[in-house]
Amino acid sequence: MSGGPLSRSNTSESVLRSSAAEKRGADAPDVFLEFQPKTITEGEFLRFQELIHRVSGIWLTHAKSALLVGRLSKRLRHLGLRTFSEYYRVVRADAEEQTCMLDAISTNETRFFREPGQFEFLKQRVFPQWQADVARRVRARKIRVWSAGCSTGQEPYSLAMTLCPYFPAAAGWEVEILATDLSRRALAVAREATWAYAASNEIPENYLKAFMLRGCRGQEGKIKAGPEIRAVVNFARVNLNDAAYAVNGPFDLIFCRNVLIYFDREDRERIVRRLLSYLSPSGYLFVGHAESLHTLHDLVCSVITTVYAPIVKAKPEADARR
Ligand SMILES: C[S@@+](CC[C@H](N)C(=O)[O-])C[C@H]1O[C@@H](n2cnc3c(N)ncnc32)[C@H](O)[C@@H]1O
Repeated sequence: MSGGPLSRSNTSESVLRSSAAEKRGADAPDVFLEFQPKTITEGEFLRFQELIHRVSGIWLTHAKSALLVGRLSKRLRHLGLRTFSEYYRVVRADAEEQTCMLDAISTNETRFFREPGQFEFLKQRVFPQWQADVARRVRARKIRVWSAGCSTGQEPYSLAMTLCPYFPAAAGWEVEILATDLSRRALAVAREATWAYAASNEIPENYLKAFMLRGCRGQEGKIKAGPEIRAVVNFARVNLNDAAYAVNGPFDLIFCRNVLIYFDREDRERIVRRLLSYLSPSGYLFVGHAESLHTLHDLVCSVITTVYAPIVKAKPEADARR
């Protein structure tokens, strides 16, 4: 493609086609080169597809080839590499670069109070049950929630804003939200708990007033989670594709929304089975609107769309001969 940004500028520097310019000797005057659009061969794509799948479980179909090129080109530029084969040799052997690659390819789209019906389900059906259970002394005043694939934090903080008014620390309740993600970059934003002011449109007015702060002076144009909700959310990097998670269950609620969509069916089912081992028998698993667990009907039943309860198997009867 001709006509990179520099070729239109009226700079006095020479702008040459890369191939011609690079053939010239080291004694040639300095030049600026056009950015060449990066392309990936079929073989290179297949190698990245396999590597990304092995490390993260994320399955990139061929339709995602342009996306892969777009996102990894930044890493190539950063490292001064010219081809995807050169980058593959680096990333295959370097765990730190693998983290950067996963950061680059992960899709972190999220919003506050995404899937509002799920939050209504909590307030109308789950919270009254927990309060009744405490009154009957069949549960402690402790609530544990896991946001698995929390991205930049909007999901765990939406949960914190929903839970805190119902279960105040002043009444002896302890709310604990663990928020995890594969992407180190997304987790850094989540830990900072600071977002663009536009995100305030996603948050109901009463929650904004009670739990969020508005930036001024150097922080103009931003919002930040206030201390009450920051106190109940903890972050950790967890790869859901790993064989075991460094996480302590059981949880009353597990949110794993719009994450399973990146895995193929086999990995998705393996991950859901593992997640369920961290869920309380009376807990709920929340998924995204495009994610159905109907193939796991031996393990979970649908309570409302996108919310599942584990099927609790009856314990085998004691052996009559004993
Ligand atoms: C589209 S976002 C969804 C965020 C949030 N759950 C929501 O629904 O708004 C998907 C998130 O899953 C994370 N993710 C992808 N693969 C993962 C893996 N193997 N382990 C943990 N997180 C992963 C990505 O980094 C990204 O932040």
